Amino acid sequence: MKNIDSISHLQGKSIYLDDLPTMQGTLYCAIYDAPIAHAKIKNLDLSIAEKSEGVVKIFTYKDIKGANQIGGIILDEQLLAEDVVDFCGMPIALIVANTSENARSAAKKIKCEFEALPIITDPREAMQKGKLIIPPRTFKIGNTDDAWTLCEHIFEGKADTNGQEHLYIETQGAYAIPLENESIRIYSSTQGPTAVQRITARVLGIGMHQIEVDVTRLGGGFGGKEDQATTWAIMCALAAQHLKVPVKFSLDRLEDMRMTGKRHPYSSDFKIGLDKNLKIIAYEATFYQNAGAAADLSPAVMERTLFHSTNTYFIPNATCTAYSCKTNLPPNTAFRGFGGPQGMFVIEAAIAKAAAALGIDAYEIQQCNLMKTGDEFLYGQKVESEAIACWEKAVVQFELKKRVEIINNFNKENQLFKKGIALMPICFGISFTKTLMNNARALVHIYSDGTVGISTGAVEMGQGVNTKILQVAAKIFSLNTHKIKINSTNTYRIANTSPSAASATADLNGRATQMACEQLLERLKIVAAEMLNTVSEKIEIINEKIFVENKETEITWEQLILAAFLKRINLSEHAHYATPDIHFDSSKEKGHPFAYHVFGTSIFEVTIDCIRGTYRIDDVRVMHDVGKSMNHLIDRGQCEGGIVQGIGWMTMEEVIYDKNGKLRSNALSTYKVPDIYSVPKVLDVLFHESPTKNLAILNSKAVGEPPIMYGIGAYFALRNAILAFNPKADLAFDAPFTPEKVLLALYAKTKV
Ligand code: MTE
Ligand code: HPA
Ligand code: MOS
Repeated sequence: MKNIDSISHLQGKSIYLDDLPTMQGTLYCAIYDAPIAHAKIKNLDLSIAEKSEGVVKIFTYKDIKGANQIGGIILDEQLLAEDVVDFCGMPIALIVANTSENARSAAKKIKCEFEALPIITDPREAMQKGKLIIPPRTFKIGNTDDAWTLCEHIFEGKADTNGQEHLYIETQGAYAIPLENESIRIYSSTQGPTAVQRITARVLGIGMHQIEVDVTRLGGGFGGKEDQATTWAIMCALAAQHLKVPVKFSLDRLEDMRMTGKRHPYSSDFKIGLDKNLKIIAYEATFYQNAGAAADLSPAVMERTLFHSTNTYFIPNATCTAYSCKTNLPPNTAFRGFGGPQGMFVIEAAIAKAAAALGIDAYEIQQCNLMKTGDEFLYGQKVESEAIACWEKAVVQFELKKRVEIINNFNKENQLFKKGIALMPICFGISFTKTLMNNARALVHIYSDGTVGISTGAVEMGQGVNTKILQVAAKIFSLNTHKIKINSTNTYRIANTSPSAASATADLNGRATQMACEQLLERLKIVAAEMLNTVSEKIEIINEKIFVENKETEITWEQLILAAFLKRINLSEHAHYATPDIHFDSSKEKGHPFAYHVFGTSIFEVTIDCIRGTYRIDDVRVMHDVGKSMNHLIDRGQCEGGIVQGIGWMTMEEVIYDKNGKLRSNALSTYKVPDIYSVPKVLDVLFHESPTKNLAILNSKAVGEPPIMYGIGAYFALRNAILAFNPKADLAFDAPFTPEKVLLALYAKTKV
């Protein structure tokens, strides 16, 4: 089945926030945000701006009736700065005017005197000065202190990854409409409608029951709208509450890039020990996460870094510690992989370093340390592993041996171009790491004409979750998909939702939908049994026809629904699903946090131009564990998109803040993302079907985030190509590998 949105997307008919027809009297927002990364606000002068054309009101924190507090995990972030600004882009005042242009031009007329305070942008410096968001955490298995003595080879190093701009095509935005009795309806481009509802209620000083958040779809979120869509929704709601008119705000691209957080940059240290058979005996890593100026989701992201710090390898002795460091950058946030990629890069760097020193290929070390079923992660969960199966299939079906040979020959024959190959196996845990978040609800109505309307907590952001939920309902009712509609995500219909995140949206909301549909089906079978003088166990509904003991009857789905309706049978169901069997004890840092894991192995081949430092990602081949894919097109799309986004993070996307905390890569002219030309010539994704019973929806494993981590393979393939040119180069692990860095590395000093 195709994505149900594909036709309306193609025709430009799909509705995004900015496509909503505006109501008469709608006002528009702009933000006056901090031009300096850390300072006391000495004097805020709004007088000229207030007289600017079209301005209705300028709001500061003094206009907030509830709490000036938008923190999600920790209450440490003001909506509008009071006395101090902590990052460039921190909102100070909200300008509301008759047009966006007038609001933005008034924002430029605001004058503010600041008294500069010291600026920290480096996480290690923040850590040394004791500026931490939360106390450090350590995950540990075995005993590394004792294990070093068992190691034949020990290597140490440092590995850094940079941030990443989400660059969802649809920028952040919201539209708030005041209703009677102080209630407000908010249309928001958010992954977390309940987060918007909860925090707007807090800031406005009203109950959650007075706030209706409605989301049709997003033009991409990638984690950037899990938490950080809330700010803009509250801005609109705050103005709507005061002015009693609809208020809209769509950020332009520069505002969005400047004011929102990104993927967390990390700086990390590692130490790895292997025995003579290349088994990894011990591993230590210390992660310095650059959280930015407030917690946002950083503690949860940091936690996932620790969960994934040993990637897909069984390491009997591992000690990994993470620090969430407070700096004067915009608070960094969720981004596809949620800290996992940052953790996995470091163990891959450690393996690459060991391989280079031992004069072998990294895949020899990778292969002999893959987890097998029953092995334990450093957080205590025993794995049901597809790691070896995916690896072996990839190596055989993609003919690794032959590829290595071709590349070695090419490198022997060519001086000015070099090729590199790298394998990147992945393992990603599915479930929110916070156990309590793993729940969802669905509301299913069968209307008297036999059509079906479904509401869940799932937000469609391009990942195809609505299609998957529709497939679930269509399968259970055995109903034509045209008779089913997935409705907008709305907090009045579905309450207390977790954000659509952690790749778990279809698993959680799909299961709730499945449960609601199954309950309705049971009820309908009883009605059918009464109509046909039999028992409900003998009834089946197939393709909208009622069957008794495999024999088709004259009764159609429509007739059955009408009969049920006339008998006053309840044709609506609301179901709740909470993932079973998961738990985690953070006092011991042990448990079984994930419903299951997703595996896969990718093979990357690249060519670099050794004069220019430019390169091509030639071929990417992936054996990806889908369980039993319920939608091949969508799952393939998620793999392809994730891989290219991962390549972007690892190669060309370079977020640059200067020493003063100012974003220099602040536009599409200075921040390069993959385009169609950067997509590898070959991007082959094969599905490894794993037969195991798991908690995935219809055994179709979550696919949203895992593929991004394949992109790490691009980094190490480039590194291998460089080493083919300059075998003794002393190369740092410092992603992204931009052409500039590749050029410098090609001619880097050699080790003595
Ligand atoms: N795919 C598209 N097209 N757009 C997106 O914003 N977000 C990714 C991934 N794939 C995203 C996407 C992220 S960060 C997550 S967590 C998952 O989709 C969320 O959706 P899921 O839980 O349904 O997989
Ligand atoms: N993944 C993604 N988003 C989240 C998580 C997680 O584990 N926890 C909280 N938000
Ligand atoms: Mo995805 S980073 O969990 O929104």
